[in-house]
Amino acid sequence: MFVCLGNICRSPLAEAIFKHKVKNRGLDDVLWADSAGTSDYHIGEPPDSRTVRNALKNGVTVDHRGQQLTVKHLDEYDYIFAMDSQNHASIQRLVNGRRIRAKIDLIRSFDPLSPGGEVPDPYYGGERGFQEVFEMLDRSIEKLIDYLVEENGIRTGT
Ligand code: 4NP
Repeated sequence: MFVCLGNICRSPLAEAIFKHKVKNRGLDDVLWADSAGTSDYHIGEPPDSRTVRNALKNGVTVDHRGQQLTVKHLDEYDYIFAMDSQNHASIQRLVNGRRIRAKIDLIRSFDPLSPGGEVPDPYYGGERGFQEVFEMLDRSIEKLIDYLVEENGIRTGT
């Protein structure tokens, strides 16, 4: 489960990149992704048109409707990846000290160029910001899938 604030820019893009890569590796029957926002600002809305356009330019189709992260998700998913530390903190507030199924981390802990960084909110910026977000997520998610394959003993047939 990929998580940002609005669930219309960063996290639906992360979900789409993940699904795109997993399909290309023939792993779409074993690895699944979803996305949600920590806010309720854009529930039911399609992704931001700038995100959709930029992703298409990079060969990725984004198809999602905004939803808010809920307590239920914390036990439904194996992993929850936050885009930035603010959203990471919001997820921890939802956890509220309970034991849950999901492991929680920042998605850029997998970024080979800048591990531990954040995916900045592109909402109020220009086109360039959307491409930078795409590239950060592309790098991070490639490594994330390597990790999931290794960690879960998934046979890739390659
Ligand atoms: P996201 O971007 O968290 O990457 O989906 C945002 C989208 C909307 C708002 C903020 C961030 N907003 O304030 O409406």
